[in-house]
Amino acid sequence: MASKIIICLSIASLIFVFSCERKSVSNEVEKERQMSNVSISELPLKIPIPENNLQSESKIELGRLLFFDPILSGNKDVACATCHHPSNGYAESRDISIGVNGEGFGGKRTFKNRNTIPFVKRNAHTVINTAFNGIGTSYKYDALEAPMFWDLRAKSLEEQALLPIKALEEMRGLQYSEAEILEVVLKRLQKIEKYNLLFAEVFPNEKEPINEINLSKAIASFERTLIGNNSRFDLYQRGDKNALSQGEIEGMKLFVKVGCIQCHNGPMFSDYKIHVLGVPDHPNLPEHDLGFENGNGFRTPTLRNLRFTFPFMHNGTKKSVKEILEFYEDISLGKSQNQRITINEIDSLARDLELRVKDFGPIINFLLSLNDDNFDQTIPKQVPSGLAVGGNIGL
Ligand code: HEC
Ligand code: HEC
Repeated sequence: MASKIIICLSIASLIFVFSCERKSVSNEVEKERQMSNVSISELPLKIPIPENNLQSESKIELGRLLFFDPILSGNKDVACATCHHPSNGYAESRDISIGVNGEGFGGKRTFKNRNTIPFVKRNAHTVINTAFNGIGTSYKYDALEAPMFWDLRAKSLEEQALLPIKALEEMRGLQYSEAEILEVVLKRLQKIEKYNLLFAEVFPNEKEPINEINLSKAIASFERTLIGNNSRFDLYQRGDKNALSQGEIEGMKLFVKVGCIQCHNGPMFSDYKIHVLGVPDHPNLPEHDLGFENGNGFRTPTLRNLRFTFPFMHNGTKKSVKEILEFYEDISLGKSQNQRITINEIDSLARDLELRVKDFGPIINFLLSLNDDNFDQTIPKQVPSGLAVGGNIGL
């Protein structure tokens, strides 16, 4: 009899201790959340432009032509627009990219027969709103420091623009080395009369206007015109209280309460920091992607325009927002989806999420209010090289 009572008591006290502990963790997390001073907010209407690369109509149009012209790739078959096409919201509707030696468009793109070029190991971001990359909760923004890529390996749209040209599997191919490709591309541009005229007009008083720096400046200038800053969420934030439905407003509140806002914050819904989440590896890639400084972390992506960034995560392995929420639920319950990464290695801000299945619907609805289709979708009729506009995409 006595021992039974003791057992009962100890079970009761166990439950008590457990629930107390759980509660105190919650309070602590709650306090941290209040103190961390993060928020979500509308994008500015004014686009930040760096002083060393001011916009002009002719510079933007030159940048657009270059963006669609496969002359920038080793085999003249891939343009920036191959993987960042306006019909796909300047992203791709595929998990990991196929650049050199590929044919077809978006989800239907495949390698040609007898291929020796690997997949690009990551999922393509949308270029829409990259003019705001790095903008924080305080709206502080520095175009020269703007973080780029899943692992932050480039700063500014200007620096980023030359990197795909140099990458073997994206645009360079096997014919030229990384050291020589830019020179090859510039020589080609210099032989095309139209490009000579356009570069001279945009960069007057320069002896050799077709150079690396001006190439990157023109492309970046064009990219800064690809903006979607009038989503229904933006309109709501600017005062139109009918722009969001009650369900979406409920989703917004849950997004904050559950803890998504800890990483997805500011006007771009990203802290632009690196976090380890343990996304599963892509089955078609030969190696585990170690991410930022080999530490398994990736940059928080924007949650704007999920309609176009689908499929999701750095390797496109998540096919829906619901799958992503299930992934976060697993983490919050102590389960890692990647065997190489233990639950304790996963960012505590993700482990501390307090997500319930019944929150999924409203959060998904809220996230969809961040889409904005009203961006420039102009496709040039032709490009100065005379090659296929947008590369070998069969459009
Ligand atoms: C073969 C497909 C492919 C081509 C061609 C390509 N990209 Fe990308 N792009 C990607 C992928 C994949 C990423 C993500 C890579 C990473 O983060 O490691 C990316 C990332 C970017 C980003 C970073 C966005 C962000 O939020 O960090 C920009 C900007 C961009 N590309 C512009 C360009 C430009 C300009 C060109 C042409 C000079 C180009 N891309 C050519 C696939 C491509
Ligand atoms: C610890 C920081 C953190 C928290 C908390 C967090 N996220 Fe994320 N989120 C990230 C990072 C980092 C990625 C990219 C991970 C990767 O690809 O490896 C990501 C990716 C995503 C994506 C994919 C976007 C795309 O275009 O690929 C969605 C959607 C998303 N998160 C929604 C949410 C929601 C909803 C919550 C709350 C339930 C949340 N996140 C909580 C950091 C976080």
